Amino acid sequence: DAAFVADPHRPQIHFSPKQHWVNDPNGMVYYNNTYHLFFQYYPSGTTWGPMHWGHAESKDLIHWKELPIALYPDSLGYIFSGSAVVDSNNTTGFGKNGKTPLVAIFTHHDPVGEKAGKENFQNQSLAYSLDEGSTWTKYTGNPVLKNPGIRDFRDPKVMWYAPQKKWVMTLATKDHITFYSAPDLKTWKKESEFGLKTGAHGGVWECPDLFPLKLNGKTYWVLVVNLNPGGPNGGSATQYFVGGFNGKTFTPIDTATRWLDYGPDEYAGITWSNTGSRKIFLGWMSNWLYANQVPTVKWRNAMTVPRELSLKQVKGKLLLTSVPVSELNNISLNTRSRKNLLVKKVTDITALAGNATGQYLLKMNTASLTDYAITISNNLGEELIAGYDKKANQYYIDRTKAGKDDFQKDFNGRFVAPRLATANGSDLTLVIDAASVELFADKGLTVMTAIYFPNKPFDHISIKSNGGLRITRLKLSALRTIWNK
Ligand code: FRU
Repeated sequence: DAAFVADPHRPQIHFSPKQHWVNDPNGMVYYNNTYHLFFQYYPSGTTWGPMHWGHAESKDLIHWKELPIALYPDSLGYIFSGSAVVDSNNTTGFGKNGKTPLVAIFTHHDPVGEKAGKENFQNQSLAYSLDEGSTWTKYTGNPVLKNPGIRDFRDPKVMWYAPQKKWVMTLATKDHITFYSAPDLKTWKKESEFGLKTGAHGGVWECPDLFPLKLNGKTYWVLVVNLNPGGPNGGSATQYFVGGFNGKTFTPIDTATRWLDYGPDEYAGITWSNTGSRKIFLGWMSNWLYANQVPTVKWRNAMTVPRELSLKQVKGKLLLTSVPVSELNNISLNTRSRKNLLVKKVTDITALAGNATGQYLLKMNTASLTDYAITISNNLGEELIAGYDKKANQYYIDRTKAGKDDFQKDFNGRFVAPRLATANGSDLTLVIDAASVELFADKGLTVMTAIYFPNKPFDHISIKSNGGLRITRLKLSALRTIWNK
């Protein structure tokens, strides 16, 4: 749809709703060869409002089809964030005629209770679908987990814990996590708390996730906790812990604070359920500092590229890596590569991407590492720079001259992230869309996401290095829009 593709700042390779406001990804579940994505959605405006669950689905994590709204607010409140599971054993009893229920577990946020100054206005509820997510029925026994008097009591992420045949709910409870369990998704029992004295606490804890990941045959548990504000570059961000989980208690390996993405614009990220050992993460590509003010017209905000998570050991520490899902390669066009390129000053690489479109996938490997800056720009003198600063041993994204930025005071800026890898050689992947860049360095050990709003598309790319950067291999592709199928 041509108008859609031509919409200024419309992401061409990321999910955004056709119109209106979006925040957190919700209820991501893989079922019957389909990836479901639900999302915090306000269908009557382009700023945050009474929350619904919007719905989209995909066969390949890249091309999305927007579907009718899945969940509407009701007498118990707005439909805040949460998760969805496949109840294969029909533990809920919602399944009928042999149909497997998909069950959504979400927070009911009661705006009336909130206004009245009550503490217990957020409670956990259920809805189920017997037609693979097309239509949903709210459970008549809602809420299933009542608020004990904690103002921030939300964003349930639920998984099946097979060794004890029970569901485990990871819930954000103000400044820590509370774990609950239930055999049937309905009768929840408190198991333990985590985090009062661990991790970053510059803001409220939201949107958690808990899942196992294997490294060298050993299983570890990763606990993801979103935090707002208090992120490493200001505002909203995603931290995580690595440790053990025994069905009751999460025990971290150490107390270090770890960030899944250091950039300003990845938030509320969690993983798909029911994908087996492959763990796929998706975040909201914005920041509460300015999400309501960014200069788009018909819609506001988008999701990150889906990312595959793994564990890696670095200097005795266990760290999470994230890289774009390999399915992204399916929309790369005209890939050209160069081997053994020595960048002395500025090298224009625009021609490598053929007819540049404003969306690129850049991959490069270097045998050693010196300062470099990759600049994407337009002929208005606007530019976005992503690079590496050797002296500080930091990656950075600089959007100080990347276009519109007067809508909110914190937007303009240069953002940094530590290089966590220790090897001499390095690699970089940049996923560049009409209004965003995602930087994955050192096989996803350091990740940054940032959005921007140029007044004309960025149609030039160059690499600059004063130190003499030896690129062993450079690959540049244009990316095909996902909207014109
Ligand atoms: C995170 C969040 C969640 C909440 C939702 C409301 O961005 O604040 O904690 O459920 O957004 O839209």
